[in-house]
Amino acid sequence: MYCDMALYDNHGRLINYVRLAVTDRCNLRCFYCMPEEGIDYVPRQELMTFEEMEHLMRILSEMGIEKIRITGGEPFLRKGLMSFLYQLSKIERLQQINITSNGILTAPYLPELKKMGIQSMNLSLDTLDKDRFYKITRRNDLDKVLETLEQLLKYGFKTKINTVVMNGKNIEDIIPLIELTKEKPISVRFIEEMPFNGSGQHYQKLEWNYKKILSYIQKHFPAITKKEDPLFSTSANYAIKGHKGDFGIIAAYSRTFCGTCNRLRLTPLGLLKTCLYDKGIFNVKNMLRVGANNEQLKIAFYSALGNRAKNGFEAEKQRGLDFPISESMSSIGG
Ligand code: 5AD
Ligand code: SF4
Repeated sequence: MYCDMALYDNHGRLINYVRLAVTDRCNLRCFYCMPEEGIDYVPRQELMTFEEMEHLMRILSEMGIEKIRITGGEPFLRKGLMSFLYQLSKIERLQQINITSNGILTAPYLPELKKMGIQSMNLSLDTLDKDRFYKITRRNDLDKVLETLEQLLKYGFKTKINTVVMNGKNIEDIIPLIELTKEKPISVRFIEEMPFNGSGQHYQKLEWNYKKILSYIQKHFPAITKKEDPLFSTSANYAIKGHKGDFGIIAAYSRTFCGTCNRLRLTPLGLLKTCLYDKGIFNVKNMLRVGANNEQLKIAFYSALGNRAKNGFEAEKQRGLDFPISESMSSIGG
């Protein structure tokens, strides 16, 4: 018998979602995410094992977590991912397992994912142009990503494209990406660029914030209408008449959605983050490896949630010395 648990933080926000980064390795080098060279990958023995991750996901599901998103780095680079997903898919209280991937290695796994009951995928794709793809990712793999996109639609996955909007890099892609939604049932979500490029160097001011992105789109598509956003949505979503898909804007830097933030994050090292912008609350893997039992782990999770920052600005302020932020998104999972 289950008791129906719901998990809340100290601001009364329901917490039912975990983003689990299964690796910090990636086969792209997107400049907004990592430096081109000299990346300090985490030593393998420091990474959480899949057994550890599964154990933690079971505990969290007992505490009220219903949804997991697998991120990285690039999740499909981690050996054993498919059997891990299969184990996760057997955790009864988990209602949804989703994946965010760059789409390079992904296509061959789609039939098996479908069989496991995984129904949706977020594909990171910032441009439809080969040269710009190379400039942004420092690799030449656009064709593979587009093939994965086709296959996702063929297999009927609920498909979202994540596009980071970068001044001077891919503004000319915004409209073509939205045009994809005319014939294809895709949601394209434009994400404000965040300061997690691993260099500690950032712009003074974000040029392409959510307001500018929206007014740019409105000039090309005057007839867009606001959709009702799903509960806990980080994107503000819009429909265009006659389009099979839709688009959204994620104010990831302006942080307009912290008031309903329902998520926790676990990094590949096992660091628990209660906000994308915090520097990590405690290391769950270390607790496991020195023998913490389930009750002790649960108490640690409750205590982290009882002290959660009110929003991403407060969390950022509490980073102390690591400011400007020097973290790489590949070690957090977005
Ligand atoms: N700013 C905004 N989004 C980012 N992502 C990665 N790095 C950044 C950044 N610096 C996005 C990727 C991916 C998601 C997990 O996070 O596009 O889709
Ligand atoms: Fe890899 Fe995603 Fe980072 Fe790009 S954004 S380097 S695809 S982890």
